[in-house]
Amino acid sequence: MHYNETLKILNEQPKKWLITGVAGFIGSNLLETLLKNNQLVVGLDNFSTGHQHNLDQVKDRVNSEQWKNFALIKGDIRQLQDCHDACKGMDYVLHQAALGSVPRSIEDPITTNETNLTGYLNMLVAAKDAEVKRFVYAASSSTYGDHPDLPKVEDKIGNPLSPYAVTKVANELYANVFARTYGFKTIGLRYFNIFGQRQDPNGAYAAVIPKWVADMMTNNPVYINGDGETSRDFCYIDNAVQANILAATSNNSDAVDQVYNVAVGERTTLNELFELIRSGLSEQFPHLDNYKVIYRDFRAGDVRHSLADISKAKKLLSYKPTHRIGEGMDIALGWYVNDIAHK
Ligand SMILES: NC(=O)c1ccc[n+]([C@@H]2O[C@H](COP(=O)([O-])OP(=O)(O)OC[C@H]3O[C@@H](n4cnc5c(N)ncnc54)[C@H](O)[C@@H]3O)[C@@H](O)[C@H]2O)c1
Repeated sequence: MHYNETLKILNEQPKKWLITGVAGFIGSNLLETLLKNNQLVVGLDNFSTGHQHNLDQVKDRVNSEQWKNFALIKGDIRQLQDCHDACKGMDYVLHQAALGSVPRSIEDPITTNETNLTGYLNMLVAAKDAEVKRFVYAASSSTYGDHPDLPKVEDKIGNPLSPYAVTKVANELYANVFARTYGFKTIGLRYFNIFGQRQDPNGAYAAVIPKWVADMMTNNPVYINGDGETSRDFCYIDNAVQANILAATSNNSDAVDQVYNVAVGERTTLNELFELIRSGLSEQFPHLDNYKVIYRDFRAGDVRHSLADISKAKKLLSYKPTHRIGEGMDIALGWYVNDIAHK
């Protein structure tokens, strides 16, 4: 069934959704779409990397009746009881809470492990005990590690290259074991560099797109780690939201207990990305006309190239990305300019 038809059916029969990490980038975008489609949503977050202002923005964008369908639990997935409380009565869980960033995990593997693995396991147990219909979780393209093949196909993975990647690989192993031992229904979504509105530009571990956008707008230097020919499959947030909703609601029994690449299936180098952002902003920020990037050493733990084969998600989930990088970037830059620069 197509995504828009899925949204229509949801609207007719509201379901109960738990979003962990709801105050974060991906979580708050899931929240916005679900509330706009009259769903009942509980959010769980400890605000470690998420922000109240993300929730405030969602509140501004939905009507007051829809906002009443949202309940926030301030809690921590490292506490099993918080997970039990949040999962009670839910139809679907969209588990996004985790500590992102490869460099953060290299600097502090213990906290990353506690959140991404112990916290994940707590959520899996709580969701199973609450008998939710489906547990959809944020997996990661970092799971491909050092496997050389391009494009990346779901069943060919290499060795993880960072503590962060280890936790994401282990998430998938646990999901698989929960399917075998308890018959619990899960779907993992291996996100490939998701970007868009509300992705945090601040902090030492900001992702490349929001960081560069903020640095360019404020005329701070932009650094490329390596020669700039490193490439990624950058994926606009709406595509990731679509994948989550399809994964949670799919009636295709072959689609469950699987992991899927969530991307566009196109590769962009960092040099190309820099130019896309620079040219997209230059009209409003004339100082960018002569702006140059600074090259420095490659960064530990980074994979050189990343490109997804998205045929599995297309076939089994009817996933169809609506935005390529350029289309997504236009919208994202508009948001950064209006919501960050002019506030
Ligand atoms: N953004 C990407 O490109 C990308 C790529 C691959 C995977 N992922 C995964 O997607 C998920 C969401 O990422 P994001 O980009 O929205 O990050 P984010 O940092 O914006 O959101 C994560 C949210 O989880 C919350 N959180 C962290 N630890 C928690 C805890 N112990 N208890 C409760 N809440 C906690 C944070 O406060 C935050 O609101 C993560 O699992 C991440 O690993 C993201």
